[in-house]
Amino acid sequence: MEQKQLTEPQKVLIRDNWQIVSQDQIHHGTVLFTRLFELEPDLVFLFQYNSSHFSNVQECLGSVEFTEHIRKVMTVIDAAVNSVDSLSSLEEYLTGLGRKHRATGVRVESFKTVGESLLFALETGLGELFTEEAREAWSLLYATVVSAMSCGWYREPQGD
Ligand code: HEM
Repeated sequence: MEQKQLTEPQKVLIRDNWQIVSQDQIHHGTVLFTRLFELEPDLVFLFQYNSSHFSNVQECLGSVEFTEHIRKVMTVIDAAVNSVDSLSSLEEYLTGLGRKHRATGVRVESFKTVGESLLFALETGLGELFTEEAREAWSLLYATVVSAMSCGWYREPQGD
């Protein structure tokens, strides 16, 4: 992945932060998506289960299916944190994941807002532990993940 490499101290910060946040992934993931829907409310309509979409954010956030999506998102972040030493191993998976998101109608630009919402959730969950250095490290990790996902918008599937 063509991003600036994370330094060893940045990796330590990410792992230390995540050890705390990952203890309650659904809670912190809910903070993330609550923020995301505040910033881009129309994203809620992209989540359709059984062919119908939610009529409002509260209905979405309270649903079992959406809670499952939060779990999926946190699992991907968990995988990225566990692979900070070898993020390129996730590249193919993330490109495929981007392609699936493109098919749901989400614009790649909205992932910038997801990034802001992730930083918001980390700051809310970690308080003073979320230092300026930690923010920088997470921004870099997230940028790497989104860079791989965004190939799913621009690159045709290979070999399938
Ligand atoms: C703009 C924000 C996002 C929107 C609108 C969105 C929307 C969706 C939708 C509609 C689905 C299919 C239904 C479902 O499985 O619940 C989905 C699946 C999924 N999403 Fe997202 N998503 C967003 C962000 C993310 C992020 C940031 C990640 C992880 C980094 C992620 C990870 C996943 C995964 C792992 C799946 C399951 C894919 C599969 O079935 O193989 N999503 N997403």
